Amino acid sequence: MKSSAIAHSNIALIKYWGRSQNHDPRLNIPANDSVSMTKYGLTEDTRLQSHTTIDFSDIYNEDTAILDGKVLTGRDMERVLSVVSPLRKLAEVKYKFKMMSKNDFPTQAGLASSASGFAALAIATVDALGLHLSKEEISTYARLGSGSAARSIHGGFVWWHKGNSHESSFAEQICGPEEFNMAAVIAIILEGKKDVTSDLGHESARTSPFNKVRIEKSQEQVEEIKEAILNNDFSKVGQIAEENCKYMHAVMMTSTPALFYWHPDTLGVIKTIQKARKEGLESYFTIDAGPNVHCLCRQDDINELQKLLEKIEGVTKTIPVKPAGDSYITKEYLF
Ligand code: DP6
Repeated sequence: MKSSAIAHSNIALIKYWGRSQNHDPRLNIPANDSVSMTKYGLTEDTRLQSHTTIDFSDIYNEDTAILDGKVLTGRDMERVLSVVSPLRKLAEVKYKFKMMSKNDFPTQAGLASSASGFAALAIATVDALGLHLSKEEISTYARLGSGSAARSIHGGFVWWHKGNSHESSFAEQICGPEEFNMAAVIAIILEGKKDVTSDLGHESARTSPFNKVRIEKSQEQVEEIKEAILNNDFSKVGQIAEENCKYMHAVMMTSTPALFYWHPDTLGVIKTIQKARKEGLESYFTIDAGPNVHCLCRQDDINELQKLLEKIEGVTKTIPVKPAGDSYITKEYLF
């Protein structure tokens, strides 16, 4: 009962920030729907993907999970179990498991490694247990590990319905990777662990006086951005994504405790993007719970944008990305 899967990370265009207060927080049911682009790194050593192998067998006396060579314990292991345990129960399997996973990018650097990691884990676990579930159903289990992982089950452009139960909070594809002309260049300012995990941020969001407005606006923007994606309207998608990112950071900065994920150089990138836009290179920024900036652009503008970002003091590295395909099962086992 062994399987391996590869999943890609994603960048949210309409953000998930804060859980619904009407449900058990462990279900990761969000306060609003969200939309993302699943991303594929254009450099060979940085595809921005997770590769995970899981094996259920009577040879194991306990459940073990190893990420990038380290045995997981505490909260990290709890999150793995939150995905695997309900699936193991569904399949009526009693065996313990061994899981091994590796990311080809820094863990917890605001590059959504948990999204690809839990998506790969959910896909490999479902396959290893011989369960027959749709991609939408698999996305609900990925969500239990990390909310944004629900979206990484699909390639291209993805919509996560907030829903109002475990079953109805799933992700579906809006369109495939070839159907909308968008890419991004990630301006890396700092690599390394985040100061405050998104887990805590999802709880503190509700203390911001702007939280309610952000949720309402995001829900409206989901409809607008889906239409713009399907119309292949890059300018509209970029504008909405940038607005939505600012709403989320306004909530973060006005929460208790206040969360400032930006680094001074983050603002340098924002200013450069705004200036470039005026001068004819159309790009929009979006930032997750970290200092790095995803600069959205048309696919033809990747090289020019990358050159521009590399000149900014404080940008240590750039990673060009385009929309990825679906996550998938592979015969390449990690053990
Ligand atoms: C800011 O709870 O999915 O990226 O801490 O990596 O598990 P992890 O993240 P998650 O929260 C994601 C928050 C966000 C916005 C988004 O991806 O929608």
